[in-house]
Amino acid sequence: MRLHTKSIGFASLILLAAQVFGQSSQLAATPPMGWNSWNFFHSKVTDADVRAAADAIVSSGMRDAGYIYVNIDDTWEGPRDAQGEITSNSKFPDMKALADYIHSKGLKFGIYSSPGPTTCARFPGSYGHEQQDADTYAKWGVDYLKYDLCSYGTIMRDESNGDQQVAWTMMRQAYEKMHQALLKTNRPILYSLCQYGHDAVWEWGAEIGGNSWRTGTDIQDSWISMSNIGFSQSGLEKYAGPGHWNDPDMLEVGNGHMKPDEYRVHMSLWALLAAPLLAGNDLSQMTPETLSILINKEVIAVDQDPLGKQGFRVSNTGPFEIWMKPLSHGDKAVALFNRSEAVFPITIKLKAIGFNRPVQARDLWEHKDLGTISDSYTATVPRHGVVMLRLTRSRR
Ligand code: GLA
Repeated sequence: MRLHTKSIGFASLILLAAQVFGQSSQLAATPPMGWNSWNFFHSKVTDADVRAAADAIVSSGMRDAGYIYVNIDDTWEGPRDAQGEITSNSKFPDMKALADYIHSKGLKFGIYSSPGPTTCARFPGSYGHEQQDADTYAKWGVDYLKYDLCSYGTIMRDESNGDQQVAWTMMRQAYEKMHQALLKTNRPILYSLCQYGHDAVWEWGAEIGGNSWRTGTDIQDSWISMSNIGFSQSGLEKYAGPGHWNDPDMLEVGNGHMKPDEYRVHMSLWALLAAPLLAGNDLSQMTPETLSILINKEVIAVDQDPLGKQGFRVSNTGPFEIWMKPLSHGDKAVALFNRSEAVFPITIKLKAIGFNRPVQARDLWEHKDLGTISDSYTATVPRHGVVMLRLTRSRR
């Protein structure tokens, strides 16, 4: 009898351990998806805007397509109270109530801070209050933290006496400090590093608990900015995988300064890069075309493929680039990009992407089966445009 009770106890312990470990490895098992306030609202974002985004993410079908995180970026922060606890400012009257509202819709709640004394928009950061802030976030129900270097750069400069190596070490320690603080809360909080790629963060970001890390500078809603960032990511693929992703920055789809073809390039490239997909537009004002780009389930499936491999450039001939992302079950996603100023045919040879036999092809923007490709395929690709395919080995 005693033995029986013991074995039940042991079994539930194993179950509990499985749940705990299961939970942490579930954090960002595929690249995080959701919405962030910065790219559209910048410093003007309010509680009402975030609630409207949460409402729209559900009513538009985006939540069901995988967009789960609703993240407030910079400018929510108020002064610290007498105990040093961070408060929200008058734009956000009650953070716990906001988190509850977001959770009630089956969504998750994200927030933003800095290891420095002030954030990039000069609001209070977490410097010297790391554990206290992590505890406050956990109390509010935060599920995601973007931690942005900002004014910590000044501290690094001042305290390293010009020794760059010392400065980089300080930076890693600052990110590790918040990682430890988040762990101590016992709440799973996705940890998104933002320090613009300094000191090859992809080489150490995962070690200090990063679930994602920005690989470079801030994106703008322009073809130049988006394509410069997106097409320069090849080579970083070996650092990404389940739980830890390269982050070329948030989406600009729908913010109005790029053409639909250019936004399709943006979405396709980010999916091939297994990048976090954080929409950055005003979801309550989306056109049907913007929504159809954000919610293209076949492109999202490339980003979210469980194999968790980041894609890379296979070839480029001037402004024509071919990229490939390995998918589960031996499938491959392939994109033919035309960065030139005129429509052009682009040819993909199966051998160049590792297929020696015929494949079945499907066009992921046309949502059309193309039948069998035996040797090569030529697509007419619009200016600043893309044709994106999913290739599956032909079954015999
Ligand atoms: C930095 C980040 C942006 C945004 C702003 C907010 O520039 O890179 O993504 O968070 O700060 O101030």
